[in-house]
Amino acid sequence: MAYSKEVVQRFEAVLANPEKHSVGRLDKDDPHVATGLAGAPACGDVMQLQLLLDDDERIIDVKFKTYGCGSAIASSSLFVDMLQGLTIEEAKLIKDKDIADALNLPPIKLHCSVLAEGSIKAAIEDWETKKSC
Ligand code: FES
Repeated sequence: MAYSKEVVQRFEAVLANPEKHSVGRLDKDDPHVATGLAGAPACGDVMQLQLLLDDDERIIDVKFKTYGCGSAIASSSLFVDMLQGLTIEEAKLIKDKDIADALNLPPIKLHCSVLAEGSIKAAIEDWETKKSC
C-alpha cells in the first residue's frame, strides 16, 4: 500500500520541523487549556490534542503528540491546521471523513483519521467539564 502524495508531504514536513507544525504540549492544568486523548483500537496508536481557548471559546493555539503511523501524523497535523481560529462549536463540525478526503487516505487507513476526530471529541469533553467546575 502506497501513501498518497498528500500524506507523504505532510508527514515529512512535520518530521522536518515538529515545532512549526504544532507538535508539543500545553499545560493541562491551565484553565484555558482543553486536553483530549484518543486511541485507535485497530492498531494501538494514540493521539493527544490540546487546545488553548480564549474567553469567547475560540481556539488560539493547538498542540498535538501522536504515537502512530505516517497517516496518523499527517491526519493530526492537518486537523491542527483546520482547528486554528475556530470556536468550539465550529470545531465540532470537523469529521474524520474531511481529513481522510483531504489526505486521500485509502480504506485500510481510515482509522488513522478517526484517531484525530476522537481526540477533538475528548478535548471538547474536557473543556465542558472544566467550564462546569
Ligand atoms: Fe495506527 Fe495509523 S496505523 S493510526
